[in-house]
Amino acid sequence: MENKKYYITTPIYYPSGSFHVGTCYCTLMADTIARYKRLRGYDVFFMTGTDEHGQKIQEKAELASKTPKEYVDKIVADAKELWKALGINYDKYMRTTDEDHKTAVQKIFKILYDKGDIYLGSYEGLYCTPCESFWTDTQAKDGKCPDCGRDVKLVKEESYFFRLSKYQDRLLKYYEEHPEFLEPLKRKNEMIKNFFEKGLEDLCVSRTTIDWGIQVPFDTKHVVYVWLDALTNYITGLGYLGEDDTNFKKYWPANLHLVGKEIFRFHSIIWPAILMALDLPLPEKIFGHGWLVVDGQKISKSFGNYKDPRIYINATSVDALRYYLLREVTFGEDGNFSEDLFIEKSNSDLSNDLGNLVSRVTAMVQKYNSGIIHNKNTKFVEYFDNNLIDVTTNLLAKVEEKMDNLKINEAISEIWEVISKANKYIDLSMPWVLAKEEKYERLDNVLYNLVETIRIITIALQAFMIEVPAKIFEQIGVTEDIQNWESGKIFGILKEGTNVVKGDNLFPRIENGKEIFKVEEVEEKKEEIVKKEEYITIDELDRVKLKVGQIKSVERVEKADRLYKLTVDLGSETRTIVSGLVKYYKEEELLGKQVVVVANLKPAKLRGIESQGMLLAAGDDDIVKLLVLDSNAGTLENGSNIH
Ligand code: MSP
Repeated sequence: MENKKYYITTPIYYPSGSFHVGTCYCTLMADTIARYKRLRGYDVFFMTGTDEHGQKIQEKAELASKTPKEYVDKIVADAKELWKALGINYDKYMRTTDEDHKTAVQKIFKILYDKGDIYLGSYEGLYCTPCESFWTDTQAKDGKCPDCGRDVKLVKEESYFFRLSKYQDRLLKYYEEHPEFLEPLKRKNEMIKNFFEKGLEDLCVSRTTIDWGIQVPFDTKHVVYVWLDALTNYITGLGYLGEDDTNFKKYWPANLHLVGKEIFRFHSIIWPAILMALDLPLPEKIFGHGWLVVDGQKISKSFGNYKDPRIYINATSVDALRYYLLREVTFGEDGNFSEDLFIEKSNSDLSNDLGNLVSRVTAMVQKYNSGIIHNKNTKFVEYFDNNLIDVTTNLLAKVEEKMDNLKINEAISEIWEVISKANKYIDLSMPWVLAKEEKYERLDNVLYNLVETIRIITIALQAFMIEVPAKIFEQIGVTEDIQNWESGKIFGILKEGTNVVKGDNLFPRIENGKEIFKVEEVEEKKEEIVKKEEYITIDELDRVKLKVGQIKSVERVEKADRLYKLTVDLGSETRTIVSGLVKYYKEEELLGKQVVVVANLKPAKLRGIESQGMLLAAGDDDIVKLLVLDSNAGTLENGSNIH
């Protein structure tokens, strides 16, 4: 048995909303590769996590009247639940808000600064304040922000820069000398063409207009800007520059960083350059996978074309979802996520091919042999015996070849080749005829070959599925000593006397089409509400004091591009309320409006200002509308109660 280490990572995800099937895709791939490596005897370290700093998170938290940490804590807890439901077996969940990460990033910043690889400069560009985005001249046509259409302005901001340009030649040389470093090849070539031909520019690694981040240790008005904070997680998560760096010593360099195609360039240019600057060895491979799309559109929270993956798991099973995602998408390419196809594949490949094979074989062993396997050692009788035994014996070697080249979907196809051969073998050997004609020795032999084939198929399945393999092993009575990977390379070690018991259907057929996903969604929500006792009584509702307020003054909050400081007249008193409305309303649009105020909300400090209440609004990131009183229907006094 090999005893080599294998360190594999996913990107760390932005916890800016709930995770969806698209987000699950990469984690699932990584989990599958990690499982496969563990089955092969590797000492695996699999890390995933969340990238928790930055302006977006800060704004979302402000909108939700939470501190950024409170906001991300909730999403992280939900993400961990989701990974559990998907059977993701990570060794470490990395959070960039972890103290040891923050300290290590500060040390890295200082090392690079002392070395001259980070220097103080200034950033100049067209900037849309409400959107917090920099744009190029071509993007910001006629001086307007392409996102919100408002005027952009030329800004100059003091920033620290990482001397990326210095590493241009070393990077190119490294790519050339290590052809296996970046994959797929087409992405590598595209990246070199797009970024190296015009020359690498130094990278802005600090901002003075963001609060929610890691402070630059020697210049506290700056916080470390996203990519330096995020990318270094791959080493700080192992304890690099921390109190205990055992894992770093053991597992670095990474064997595989798995990333989506849109962040491939950050991983293939910036990350190796940072590692070079730190004099650390580079990872063995960075692989840029494609996206899950629906009708050609990337599945994403902002496109609204996603569902909680748990809906699919609840309606079918975790293994059905895993199978569909792993099999249907050619690794490295975009893949279509279609609910219809999901059902079709689940019925054909899982219920018909795999499920039926196991249920037919176990039923026959029970019926003809009272559940007992006899090994008569007369395997090669017909040409089709030979055929089945050959493909089954070679299965794991083929799966290895595909998996070692990250061709997950092809590895699964190899397993289904054998499943299909085994089903054909039943038709050709006709055990029911053998039983009728009382050819018991041949019958024993056929049943033995079938159960032994199922054993080897199940060993391979363990890399891709998490519940079904154990169920099959139980049904075919395979003892633990012959469930390991190496034992799957030998045909004929299933023991005489093995006790087979037919069990439940592994993959019940889905009969009512994709309706099940809708029904489950509603059912699940209902259940959740009841479970968490989220119904409230009229008395509880009464505790929320809603009042009519009128906006009397509007001011921008310094250094917070989304926030207004409002003075709101509640009749008998005036309140200060901080609200993240800059992106959605101009000052003059708010002045004088009669709005709905949650008057008894506990005051909270936002950017040092005590906010004494909250305005009710509807919408999400892109559109937010304040709930205002209809001025046509006569005026209500400020401070009136709302029931
Ligand atoms: N935080 C950065 C990564 C920093 S890594 C040092 C980030 N986060 S993200 O949440 O926006 O995206 C994380 C990963 O999810 C990316 O690799 C992205 O490609 C992947 N996916 C998001 N939507 C996806 C699909 N619809 N399909 C497949 N992958 C998807 O970028």
